[in-house]
Amino acid sequence: MSKKILILPGDHIGPEIMAEAVRVLEHVNARFDLDLELEHALVGGAALDAVGTPLPDDTLAKARASDAILLGAVGGPEWDNVERHLRPERGLLGLRSELELFGNLRPALLYPQLAAASSLKPELVAGLDILIVRELTGGIYFGEPRGIRTLENGERQGFNTYVYSESEIRRIGHLAFGLARARGKRVCSVDKANVLDVTVLWREVMTEVAKDYPDVELSHMYVDNAAMQLVRAPKQFDVLVTGNMFGDILSDAAAMLTGSIGMLPSASLDSSGRGMYEPCHGSAPDIAGQGVANPLATILSVAMMLRYTLDKPEAAAAIEAAVSAVLDRGLRTADIRAEAETPVSTSQMGEAVLQALAG
Ligand code: NAI
Ligand code: MG
Repeated sequence: MSKKILILPGDHIGPEIMAEAVRVLEHVNARFDLDLELEHALVGGAALDAVGTPLPDDTLAKARASDAILLGAVGGPEWDNVERHLRPERGLLGLRSELELFGNLRPALLYPQLAAASSLKPELVAGLDILIVRELTGGIYFGEPRGIRTLENGERQGFNTYVYSESEIRRIGHLAFGLARARGKRVCSVDKANVLDVTVLWREVMTEVAKDYPDVELSHMYVDNAAMQLVRAPKQFDVLVTGNMFGDILSDAAAMLTGSIGMLPSASLDSSGRGMYEPCHGSAPDIAGQGVANPLATILSVAMMLRYTLDKPEAAAAIEAAVSAVLDRGLRTADIRAEAETPVSTSQMGEAVLQALAG
């Protein structure tokens, strides 16, 4: 049966990088007989300009009807002054919550060809391959009550609520352990159980979940120590699982270990395996329209889609090998080149990946 893939290019460099990712997706679709049907829709600022909302009903309906979504990036300064509920990011947040995409996967993989771009010494990051699994639809970012109130003494007070239910912790735990089973068989659960009650429960539930995975080793770490360890000795980790806020911060720190934002894919999964796949970077308005953006993060997001939603690991591996081959050939977009190197354009990079796939 055919599978439906929804393509959401978004804003600024979104359409530029998406064009290359779609070429790669169409190539593997034919070559591996995947029977994928691609559909396009608007999201973010592009949707706001066209129909007055960052997440049109038509886009949401198509998203619900698809097996996977490939998204470029949304946002830009021209929408800075629109009302909060109309901001381009609301399109993204709306998709995440409407589709219950609770499991955010952020791999931090160092390509040896780019070791010089890392913020750490080569020996600390050589061979780095970690996966951060961040809970994405709960925790303090969504907890109620929240707001800013005025106390009796006239002072204002801001507050948010950090909540996780047992079932929310359990489902992200199962996701992380399942993924670890197919990798290095180690899960490190990151919490702040010495201070925050909600993470005492987090730690208890993770320990229960671990019993279903006797072949996977569970460890626990406080978030402050995890931040320290990530920059001190990142290779000690395999899979890190954590809540929404800690995951937001730790995954950005881990991203820098690999050097460039232009290389980092991500996935956001629901409990049935449906997912939204997108690069970790934003819409880069500063370089949009120049044909210089790095399309590899989006192309690698296609590989994640093939692996995690479509269950086509051989097609995923072919794309990853093609990316590696292109880096071996010395091709670099501006964001990943050393000073003396001449950069290639977005479309030259996409073309090179296609050639490597075909060759
Ligand atoms: P950004 O990730 O768009 O850009 C940060 C820096 O990295 C810029 O100098 C940019 O040129 C560079 N960069 C990003 N992607 C690149 C690529 N593929 N190739 C080469 N260089 C690349 O983050 P920024 O500037 O904070 O945000 C710009 C807009 O993107 C904002 O409107 C923001 O809200 C939005 N945004 C959207 C995200 C999403 O759609 N998931 C995530 C983060 C930001
Ligand atoms: Mg972030």
